[in-house]
Amino acid sequence: MYYQNNSPSSTSNDHHTTVIDLRSDTFTKPTKRMREAMCNAEVGDDVYEEDPTVKKLEKKAAEMVGMEAAIFVSSGTMGNLIAIMNHCDERGCEAYCGEFAHCLLHEQCGAAQLGGVNLRPLRSNEDGTFDLDELESKLHRDRDHEPISKLVLVENTLNGMIIPQRWIKELVQFCEKHDLKLHMDGARLWNASVESNTSAKEIVSGFDSVTFCLSKALGAPVGALLCGNKEFISKARRVRKVLGGGMRQVGILAAAGFIALENIPNLKDDHRRAYTLASSINEMQSKLFSVDLNTVQTNMVFVKVDSNVVPPTTFANCLREIDDEHDEERIIIKCLVLNKSFVRFVFSFEITDHQLALAVTKIKRVISKLDPSL
Ligand SMILES: Cc1ncc(COP(=O)(O)O)c(C=O)c1O
Repeated sequence: MYYQNNSPSSTSNDHHTTVIDLRSDTFTKPTKRMREAMCNAEVGDDVYEEDPTVKKLEKKAAEMVGMEAAIFVSSGTMGNLIAIMNHCDERGCEAYCGEFAHCLLHEQCGAAQLGGVNLRPLRSNEDGTFDLDELESKLHRDRDHEPISKLVLVENTLNGMIIPQRWIKELVQFCEKHDLKLHMDGARLWNASVESNTSAKEIVSGFDSVTFCLSKALGAPVGALLCGNKEFISKARRVRKVLGGGMRQVGILAAAGFIALENIPNLKDDHRRAYTLASSINEMQSKLFSVDLNTVQTNMVFVKVDSNVVPPTTFANCLREIDDEHDEERIIIKCLVLNKSFVRFVFSFEITDHQLALAVTKIKRVISKLDPSL
């Protein structure tokens, strides 16, 4: 569960205060080029498949992941749900995913709620993979009594971690052998691709479908793409409609997405900044606040807080407060309290090196204040 602290900051409009929003990479605003493209977009009724800008975006997306076709959807959640409903197209199906998968924990289990599909979690290894032996042991064969094993879902990146390509290849072979469909929740596929120097095509090679988001690290205001073969995407069009996702002159939004794909920001900079913050925290050698650096592979930092001493909400609240005596720079940091032990900081292209330096200063100051041993 997200313990979101969204109360507006009383000082956020104060010109002397710098607000650095590290809650998520979804907070980026569309760039000037995106806004111009939106303004000039040629549009039509996309439910009738007559929006040229949407078509252009879908073609580009499909090419970039090496699949036959793509469909523009309103969100990553919708892309994943359509994929699940499409692959699990008979009643009583089961799909498998890691225990921390977004589609299991943060999408209201739409698979069950709307698709009638049972999502079965698998224990996650530290590197974000799961054991194929465990998966095999959960597969069903008795069609009279058991659910029908249909689909495996992989999230990449998973909480900022890049799923090892070697394991992905094994999983592809496993699914072929067991006649299972394979979908990637690649909400942050480009972070994985850029950081691992592996093309998106290679990452999803052997998958039946992939969703990736335009509105996260890529900076577009809205939307995601679901990609697969032509038959899958034509079925997806029907499912999207029943979910209320048939949009009309939506080329206005697709235009911004196209710019995002043509100009993918320098995501490695976001990753470097995340790692700098994580290592700066660890350098303090606090016993209450630490980061597992192995998990900081892309743009996310998960700070573990010893909640027996400091509730994570206290940490987050202190980061939002201005301490007039010590906070010469007047900095407010926004972060996300994830649960009783973790606070998350996420980097995206609007966060500059200067802001990183201010964030490090403020976070270190707050940690020093909250950890009596420092
Ligand atoms: C891994 C992952 N998958 C899917 C989604 C859902 O995307 P959206 O917010 O566009 O529905 C998110 C959103 O944060 C995500 O992090």
